[in-house]
Amino acid sequence: MHESFYVTTPIYYVNARPHLGHAYTTVVADVVSRFHRMCGRQTCFLTGTDEHGDKVVRAAKQEGLSPMVYADQISDLFRKLWPELNIEYDHFIRTTDPAHAKVVRQVLQKIYDAGEIYFSEYEGAYCFGCERFYTERELVGGRCPDHKTIPEAIKESNYFFRMSQYQDWLIDYISTHQDFISPERYKNEVLAFLREPLEDLCISRPKSRLKWGITLPFDDQYVTYVWFDALLNYISGLGYPDGESFKRFWPSVHHLVAKDILKPHAIYWPIMLKAAGIPLYRHLHVHGYWNVDEGKMSKSIGNVVDPLELKNVYSADAFRYFLMRDMVFGLDSSFSETALIQRINSDLANDLGNLFSRSLTMVHKYLRGVVPKSDAVPESSLDLDVKSEAFKDVQAYRKAMEDFAFHKALVAVWGFVNRVNKYIDMTAPWELAKRKSQHKQLQVVLYNILESLRVIAGLIYPFMPRTSLLMQEHLGMPSAHTFQKLDDLNVWGKTTPGTKLPKTLTLFPRIEWERLQPLEQASAGPKEELVSVKPEISMKVFEQIDLRVATVLHAEPVPRSKKLLKLRVNAGEERTIVAGIAESYQPEDLTGKQVVIVANLKPVRLMGVLSRGMVMTASDNGACRLITVDGPSEPGTPLS
Ligand code: MSP
Repeated sequence: MHESFYVTTPIYYVNARPHLGHAYTTVVADVVSRFHRMCGRQTCFLTGTDEHGDKVVRAAKQEGLSPMVYADQISDLFRKLWPELNIEYDHFIRTTDPAHAKVVRQVLQKIYDAGEIYFSEYEGAYCFGCERFYTERELVGGRCPDHKTIPEAIKESNYFFRMSQYQDWLIDYISTHQDFISPERYKNEVLAFLREPLEDLCISRPKSRLKWGITLPFDDQYVTYVWFDALLNYISGLGYPDGESFKRFWPSVHHLVAKDILKPHAIYWPIMLKAAGIPLYRHLHVHGYWNVDEGKMSKSIGNVVDPLELKNVYSADAFRYFLMRDMVFGLDSSFSETALIQRINSDLANDLGNLFSRSLTMVHKYLRGVVPKSDAVPESSLDLDVKSEAFKDVQAYRKAMEDFAFHKALVAVWGFVNRVNKYIDMTAPWELAKRKSQHKQLQVVLYNILESLRVIAGLIYPFMPRTSLLMQEHLGMPSAHTFQKLDDLNVWGKTTPGTKLPKTLTLFPRIEWERLQPLEQASAGPKEELVSVKPEISMKVFEQIDLRVATVLHAEPVPRSKKLLKLRVNAGEERTIVAGIAESYQPEDLTGKQVVIVANLKPVRLMGVLSRGMVMTASDNGACRLITVDGPSEPGTPLS
């Protein structure tokens, strides 16, 4: 039987739309799952949504929806986002799935029967944001360390899980299992926390206060605390207790989380498993936070980064590459679109993209697009170590991938990309092509280049699966539609001589900086005439402009900008458009208004907000008027 590998992401709360942070963890899970498949393992990748609890009830209320309808909508956004980012999960779990609820009740009953749950009155400081009680020691200046709010004093009877009894056992377990929690800094953080007495965990909420949850099996007046419910997804998603998948995959589970949820995963979860008599998880991998503008992403600051918008502008693979290359797993990182564009232009368009297109162009120009023979002359004189470098880099890559040092793995791949670029410069195939007597040498050199590209295509598969397969197709590989095994990247000579290659292609277009100038900066130039003289255009050109009716769903100011408003509109589908109308309109006057937009304008980033399209206005002496329609129209209706 194949070795197995099971990777999980946190299940995300459905109280907000997916953002960059969620995308990062889920991309990491996809990368490791693809890598382990390349190593010949049978993999299982679980993600999903966490749907119970007070947070969700309050978010639903704000939208005027029932918790279930609201959870359906947001859960759907997550589920549909992942394939857009080339993420292939095996199972998407929702805590509202009846099968999950059944497992939660089963496990609770088991722990209750073992005498590890008791009923007691408790009075304490409760943070509604975190949905938990805080001890005095945990509060910072009397406030919740996360929400900075003063918790409310609450007194109620609840069920408690005897977590405190497991403290010594857990300290011992973590200390003697070096790779249980990594990186080391987070293991140390947990051990430091465990130096103070551990309290029992309140695992119920009275229905009089919260109905949206899984009813306790031993008291129908209470629902289960959302973390106790959520953590069990990792086993219910495998069909615990009797499912084949549980038996096969649970022994090799790797949990991925960010540092924000270290405590539930490193303390509650192992103790829950121990108390329920379930083997502990193998590894907890903890990563840092993506920050924006030197701070946390937050809805109120308006700096939340939408992964779908980035994907639409830059492509899923480029976005994935950036995430994995620019964050050192375990440490915080700062997101900026400038950094993203620099990476795309230098690493992807320049290094990899140019290498690929210049190589294939030479094969077409000098060899009519046919893969040459590899053994036309004894290879050693023309090899220049490119082959041994490839093998060395594959080893470095494998080690880095196993250590979750993804940035190092990519550094190894790009070391090889640059080595091959140098190989081309040193062997100068264009010079060899000038003399018939050197035709054999030319063949060997081009063969080595094609083999190198095959190895590179294989190595980038976990990070950029679409690009990898596209490269393989253009290298004429018979199994272009599937990934190569890691072992295949340790051998030379798999490219088949005689294969006719398809035309070359641009893997990553360069991103033009001009597109990204903020509107306020751009309009600081010389003033244009009010009515400019523009050239006549044909109907055909005009028809290329996608003008549509859009309904404004929500409007808000763009931080630090006098002129800009950020509009969320329905133009047949939802999108964000930034409009320079803040001096003429109040955001609250715009909701419900129907406007006319140019829908197929290239997206631009304005004051840090990605704008997809333009709202049409008539500007007269600085005042601007929105162009609207003379009666209600279906959002997305085209103008003709
Ligand atoms: N529902 C709980 C998890 C239950 S798991 C049994 C939860 N949900 S969450 O929606 O808040 O997601 C938290 C996770 O999202 C983090 O642990 C991390 O995986 C990801 N991220 C959210 N913001 C992030 C950043 N700014 N940066 C990186 N990842 C972050 O907690």
